[in-house]
Amino acid sequence: MAALWNMQNIEYKLARLRDAQVIAQMSRDLVEFGLPWAWTAPRVAAHIRASDSNVLTAWSGEHLIGFAIMQYFDEHAHLNLLGVEPAYRRFGIGRRLVEWLEETARVGGMFSVRLEVRAGQTGSRAFYRRLGYQEDKYIPGYYSGREAAVRMTHDLRRSSSL
Ligand SMILES: CC(C)(COP(=O)(O)OP(=O)(O)OC[C@H]1O[C@@H](n2cnc3c(N)ncnc32)[C@H](O)[C@@H]1OP(=O)(O)O)[C@@H](O)C(=O)NCCC(=O)NCCS
Repeated sequence: MAALWNMQNIEYKLARLRDAQVIAQMSRDLVEFGLPWAWTAPRVAAHIRASDSNVLTAWSGEHLIGFAIMQYFDEHAHLNLLGVEPAYRRFGIGRRLVEWLEETARVGGMFSVRLEVRAGQTGSRAFYRRLGYQEDKYIPGYYSGREAAVRMTHDLRRSSSL
């Protein structure tokens, strides 16, 4: 339960294949609500297996409370998914997940991280801006022709957002 945890005992670890189903369900409920379900368990499992992706999870005891999926390319990384359970938001867990993955991109020699976020998710857009991301482009109909996205980029060569 949220009342019994504190930030000191949140654990961050790479996902195992057996986490794919829970991550996919969280994606459906927290990120993709109202859209066709794209991040199904087999797709999440493929990213857990892939050598060019990291699937990072946050845990409070036995409860998976957050996740993020990053894919790495030659010069940039792409943040595919990010979600934190509502009861655990605004405690720095989303930031920690993103910064952990950004560090791996930096170490791998990448210059930037890109992502798309639902245009109507103003809180999530504010979160990314707070972490140093800039809004580059508005893309109408990006999500199954139904909803617009905003493309955002974080230049990793710039200093930290802190
Ligand atoms: C976006 C999300 C992952 C943020 O997770 P979080 O753990 O609550 O974020 P943090 O606590 O690390 O926030 C860091 C800072 O970002 C900003 N921020 C976070 N959420 C915000 C919101 N809803 N509105 C405005 N600013 C916000 C704040 O400056 C915050 O610092 P503060 O709490 O000290 O003011 C979470 O709200 C979420 O899961 N949303 C639904 C899914 C989603 O939209 N995912 C992103 C697209 S894939």
